[in-house]
This record gives sequence, structure tokens and C-alpha cells, in this order.
Amino acid sequence: MQTYRSWRVFQEDGAVNARLVDSSLDELKAEPGVLVRGAYAGVNYKDALTALNRAKIVRKFPCIVGIEFIGTVERSDDPRFAIGDPVIMHGFGMGSEGLGGFTQWLVVPADQLVRLPAGLSLADAGTIGVAGYTAALAIDAMQANGLVPSSGPVAVNGATGGVASLAIDMLAGAGYEVHAITRQSDDGWLRGLGASAVHAPPEVGQRPLEGARWAGGVDSLGGRALDEMLRTMRQDGIVSAFGNAMGNDLPTSVLPFILRGVRLLGINANSPMPLRERIWTRIGSDLRPRHLDAIAQAATLDNLGEVFQTLLEGRGRGRFVVDLRR
Ligand SMILES: NC(=O)c1ccc[n+]([C@@H]2O[C@H](COP(=O)([O-])OP(=O)(O)OC[C@H]3O[C@@H](n4cnc5c(N)ncnc54)[C@H](OP(=O)(O)O)[C@@H]3O)[C@@H](O)[C@H]2O)c1
Repeated sequence: MQTYRSWRVFQEDGAVNARLVDSSLDELKAEPGVLVRGAYAGVNYKDALTALNRAKIVRKFPCIVGIEFIGTVERSDDPRFAIGDPVIMHGFGMGSEGLGGFTQWLVVPADQLVRLPAGLSLADAGTIGVAGYTAALAIDAMQANGLVPSSGPVAVNGATGGVASLAIDMLAGAGYEVHAITRQSDDGWLRGLGASAVHAPPEVGQRPLEGARWAGGVDSLGGRALDEMLRTMRQDGIVSAFGNAMGNDLPTSVLPFILRGVRLLGINANSPMPLRERIWTRIGSDLRPRHLDAIAQAATLDNLGEVFQTLLEGRGRGRFVVDLRR
């Protein structure tokens, strides 16, 4: 019997456990859909929460852990995909409703696959993943609302994180003056990605409006950090909010909105397919990150357990990328 490996989460005797298991490839191949051989899957904070059972994310057990998956088509029942096509899948309940990305093989509905744009290798896409997609979606939304490089500086908080580091790389590449805000000490890594300056998180001020600094803001954190960002935006500044690494609350006032015309854009990466295809095309062209080698940290299915722990302890930087073929 041919087997393949995947990280699965089980509900057993009232407990939730995740582990690396062998499964029958013959049984998987018998399922209808597009058969994809895995190449890479980036590791996201949410995956660590799932695998270490720190949040109720899984809605259908057993579930393969992982919210993204990159590979090549090995068999297709759909004319849109041919053998050998490089594809990416994310969203659509991946990692919570059965299918997940930390697996060597997957059978996927064709409607949920995006063909990688020319110019992006499988390894590039592994480093970019959902994090880079979210960064590009945020930048695209800010630009649709009028943000251009001449608008002024753009602040990116939680700067060493996956989404934020890719946002810094993309924004700098697109000509923006990027200011990284991080709790980490500055060892040159963020400047290497393109940040013009690196700042410690500011003391949260007491005034409803603080000195106007930023034309754009990219927020991974929520909570007091997003409030601080809103209060330091310039007239007509644009903030994209996609994360809650600091918290779900948003203690703020309406004054940034009604006195400075600040616009707050909500970003959800589980986009409809036409938007996904358009954003991935941009990631392969004008928003292509230039420092993927510096952002990627190699991982394997065998050491994924340690990676989950590292992420939960806040010791990650950039993106851990699992090579699914090893
Ligand atoms: N809306 C969506 O569709 C979507 C898509 C992708 C991700 N997300 C969310 O976006 C956020 C960022 O994702 P990610 O993958 O980039 O996560 P990540 O790699 O874990 O990065 C988050 C960064 O936030 C900072 N941080 C973490 N905990 C913090 C705390 N308690 N207080 C202050 N700063 C803290 C850290 O940066 P420093 O140490 O540099 O300060 C960390 O590197 C997460 O909340 C994630 O769930 C949402």
C-alpha cells in the first residue's frame, strides 16, 4: 500500500490531539476532484492554535491542520487545470473543516484552486502564502482608496510577523516610505526588507488625536495598537485592519474619522475567486516581494511540532515554510 504523510487533528476520548500520521494514498486517489501533490505550506499562527488545541478552530474531525497548500496538479477532472499546473489553495475552511495544508497529497475541488501566476515558483508561493495574500489584499484596498507613494509614510505594526514583513517588502518595492513598528530589537532585518525606519511600539497617548504622522497604516494587532494607529493618522489617512494579535477589542473614538477623515478598511483573506486571481496576479507582478529568501525559514513535517511551539511563544520571525516533499 502506498502511503502519504499529513498532520491531522483528532477528537479522542474528549481530548483534541494533533499528530503526524500515515494514510492510504490509494484511497485518496479514489476520491473525485483535482489531485495535487504537495510542495510547500507556510505555517500561520492559527495553525499553532489548532495543533496545540489553544482555540476551538476545527469544526469537522478528523481535520488536516494548515490553512494553505501549494503543489502541482497530478490528475484533474476539470478542464481549467492540467497535469503539472502549479496551484495554491487557501481559505474555504482549510484547516477547520476537514482539508488542510500540512499534507503530501490532497484532493481538492477545482473551484477552490488558483493557478500560480508566471514568475512565482512553488517555493516563492510557499513563503508568500496566506500571509502575503493578506498583505497584498490590504495594499490593494488601500490603493483603491487613493493611497499612493506621494501620500506620505506608511506604518506597519507587528512588523516581524508574516503578514507585516511581506507588507513591508511589497510596499517598499512599490515605492512607499515604510515605517516598521516592532517589539523586537532592530538588528537590520526589517531595514533589509525595505523599511526606512524601525520604531518601538509608541506609548499609548491619552489624547483622542495625537500628532499626525502616517498616510497609511497596516495593522496586524487590533486592540490598543490599532487605536494608537488611528489617532496618529494624517488627514484622510487610510488604515487596513486584518489582525488581532494583540486583541479583539478596539477601544477608540470617532474623532480620527470625523475630524481627520481617516478611513478604516477591514481585510478578510477568504476572498471570492475573481478577487483571489486578481490579487495573485499582482503578487506575481507589481507587488512581487523582493526578499523572500530573508523572510523564509525552512521547516519539515517532522519538526512542525517545534515550529507550532515557537510561534505560540512569539519567537517566530517572517515565515516558516514546510517542504512537504521531505
Ligand atoms: N483577516 C484575515 O483574513 C487574516 C489573514 C491572515 C492573518 N490574519 C491575522 O493577522 C495577524 C497577523 O498574522 P501573522 O500570520 O502575520 O502573525 P505572526 O506571524 O504571528 O505575526 C504577528 C506579529 O504581531 C506581533 N505580536 C504578536 N503578539 C503580540 C502581542 N501580544 N502584542 C503586541 N504585538 C504582538 C509580533 O510582531 P513584533 O514582535 O514585531 O511586534 C508578531 O510577529 C494575526 O492576528 C492573524 O490571525 C488575518
